[in-house]
Amino acid sequence: MRGMSDDHTHVQDFFTARAADWDHRFPDDGPAYAAAVAALGLRKGDRVLDAGCGTGRALPPLRAAVGPTGVVVGADLTAAMLRAAARAGRDRDGTLLLTDVAALPLRSSSLDAVFAAGLIAHLPDPAGNLREIARVVRPGGVLALFHPIGRAALAARQDRTITPDDLRAEPNLRSLLTRSGWRMTSYTDEDTRFLALAVPAD
Ligand SMILES: C[S@@+](CC[C@H](N)C(=O)[O-])C[C@H]1O[C@@H](n2cnc3c(N)ncnc32)[C@H](O)[C@@H]1O
Repeated sequence: MRGMSDDHTHVQDFFTARAADWDHRFPDDGPAYAAAVAALGLRKGDRVLDAGCGTGRALPPLRAAVGPTGVVVGADLTAAMLRAAARAGRDRDGTLLLTDVAALPLRSSSLDAVFAAGLIAHLPDPAGNLREIARVVRPGGVLALFHPIGRAALAARQDRTITPDDLRAEPNLRSLLTRSGWRMTSYTDEDTRFLALAVPAD
């Protein structure tokens, strides 16, 4: 696979160990994913990528939003997560691609939107990878960076404290997006959801 590195081996080991159990750990997240997908404002026939799709929890609402004429692609680095997605039947809602978001096998400006849940904290080169994601989105398209719980709730779950250099703190994320070809248009960090939306910079 293109773009492999030691960082990726660590990510793959981490998620391979969790793949079989992933959906059982968070059984009540469905409505939060559906609401976040709604924020993308997709239309029937649109083309959308779920970057770091994991077990494909977002694929059913993404398919519902774009309809049968749309295109839904789920991309992930960890084969075990994609196998779990297929076992759950989510390959019926989107095409599953085993790939690193650092080098997407997609044409430039070919997508209307990208959804990325729980992804950016795992990227070894967030700016470079967000730039690659920007490459595949058309002008006027949209990016959603989502997590079903907010930063404080996630830190508490993981028994850690948030530091000012946290990648997803509002000023840090705004700056990161600006450096990688995006303009952040909204930012929400509440206990029940984290959602940042961005559009390709002019
Ligand atoms: C926290 S999980 C979230 C999975 C899914 N989006 C969800 O919300 O349930 C992060 C996922 O990102 C994937 N991932 C991490 N780095 C990646 C990369 N560079 N390219 C593609 N996928 C990556 C992992 O394999 C894992 O499945």
